[in-house]
Amino acid sequence: MSTVASDATAILGSQAHVRVQAGYNDGIVRQFVVMTLVWGVVGMLVGAFIAAQLAWPALNFDIPWLTYSRLRPLHTNAVIFAFGGSALFATSYHIVQRTCHVRLFSDRLAAFTFWGWQLVIVLAAITLPLGITQSKEYAELEWPIDLLIAVVWVAYAVVFFGTIALRKVRHIYVANWFFAAYIVTIAVLHIVNNVAIPVSPTKSYIVYSGVVDAMVQWWYGHNAVGFFLTAAFLGMMYYFVPKQAGRPIYSYRLSIVHFWALISIYMWAGPHHLHYTTLPDWAQSLGVVFSLILLAPSWGGMINGIMTLSGAWHKLRTDPILKFLIVSLSFYGMSTFEGPMMSIKTVNALSHYTDWTIGHVHSGALGWVAFMTIGSMYALLPKLYGREQMWSSRLIDVHFWVATIGVVLYVASMWIAGVMQGLMWRAVNEDGTLTYTFVESLAATQPFYIVRLLGGVLFLAGMLIMVYNTVRTVQGSTIPADTPIPQSA
Ligand code: HEM
Ligand code: HEM
Repeated sequence: MSTVASDATAILGSQAHVRVQAGYNDGIVRQFVVMTLVWGVVGMLVGAFIAAQLAWPALNFDIPWLTYSRLRPLHTNAVIFAFGGSALFATSYHIVQRTCHVRLFSDRLAAFTFWGWQLVIVLAAITLPLGITQSKEYAELEWPIDLLIAVVWVAYAVVFFGTIALRKVRHIYVANWFFAAYIVTIAVLHIVNNVAIPVSPTKSYIVYSGVVDAMVQWWYGHNAVGFFLTAAFLGMMYYFVPKQAGRPIYSYRLSIVHFWALISIYMWAGPHHLHYTTLPDWAQSLGVVFSLILLAPSWGGMINGIMTLSGAWHKLRTDPILKFLIVSLSFYGMSTFEGPMMSIKTVNALSHYTDWTIGHVHSGALGWVAFMTIGSMYALLPKLYGREQMWSSRLIDVHFWVATIGVVLYVASMWIAGVMQGLMWRAVNEDGTLTYTFVESLAATQPFYIVRLLGGVLFLAGMLIMVYNTVRTVQGSTIPADTPIPQSA
């Protein structure tokens, strides 16, 4: 079938927009899956390196492009946008085709999104260590790269919504709702947050200033968490959890209710990143209220995912992929309980600026995002390479345990370190002087940084096990023809 498609494409040439129903476009999904693994390893390697730098600062070797301040954004960009982003492109393209019973709207545009996104990542990997940055967290890349991101993202939207428009199934499956919300919102966030006046190819000035800049930035930052790291991964969850469990979703009604609640509430919670700043007090309080309400739709998703397993709990004993998916949902539940608590101003007075925040981030990022990605990739990989299952189910189980111990070490050490830092910084003697110097708090933190590093190295080791298992799965397989589309639809 794929030969028919490529012959047709060759014949049609520039008229490739004339669609040929040759089966699902699995090739683009394969490309993004492979890059998910590659960027996962790279991003986590950089994460482990900066974790080591925090324990032993001399590891920057006095080389500017190895300094912590330059490698930290490299880590966040690599894990969020390269690893997480590639996983989202792969799964959204896979899911939208399977649930709409139609091939992607345009193979060419889809290919453009692949190469365009990889180019963005490579440019990030070059410019960030060189110190070229807008200095806005999670939006560090300079304006020419921002423009490229915008173009790639619009192409992504055209492919995704075009496919939805062509669907052969009347109903739009809930996973696509989550992907749709994420694609639209990220476009808006990215464009608004990056409005800048360029002064050279590598330097620009953001048009906002002062507290307005801070508010726009955290409206962006918080919703990047809400839509990139949450809504989109819920889309992934709504497809792979029922599929792997072999059960329908627990409650379709709940999925729709929590979808609308989640996307409308997330938008207003951003000010919790700006407590005790010059942002007007009412705006900070608004952020608290919306963050607290956010617990409900977040747990709606968590409960819906976990309860999908009711009647099939025994599968958890034998299916390591399901373990990844369900533990991921548990971490989602934990981090979305912790987040609202941290948004309460008095709690934030203790947690802000400390490693508690870093613990919260990674219980979401490793526990929820990376576990969901890993589980979904294990479910997807064999299908994409014409295999019944991964080469070794035992190695998936080993990966699961290594990664779980890794996350627990990471998160627990940062929680303890964070609370300790918060308490040490606010401790005062009877005469009103500070009980501890800052350096004393750093010295007290160092052992926890070493434990975090150990956790990170374990997590990275798990990724390398996954790469090995993938290579063995793929070895000797011939890439299968695109999966035929069911005719019954
Ligand atoms: C081997 C795994 C990982 C290690 C060792 C690691 C390590 C680190 C370190 C050392 C920092 C800087 C902390 C600080 O400034 O005090 C950091 C920040 C961060 N990492 Fe990771 N990381 C890992 C995986 C991930 C993954 C998979 C994601 C996302 C999907 C992620 C997202 C982030 C984010 C968003 C921050 C910034 C947090 C903030 O500013 O509050 N990390 N990571
Ligand atoms: C109901 C859901 C959530 C709420 C209300 C929430 C709330 C918060 C709060 C209050 C902070 C600390 C802000 C500060 O003191 O600077 C924070 C930081 C953060 N959270 Fe969450 N959180 C939620 C879920 C999540 C999830 C699921 C993830 C990851 C997948 C996540 C990722 C982050 C990141 C990356 C930061 C650090 C931002 C930065 O300063 O760089 N959050 N969150």
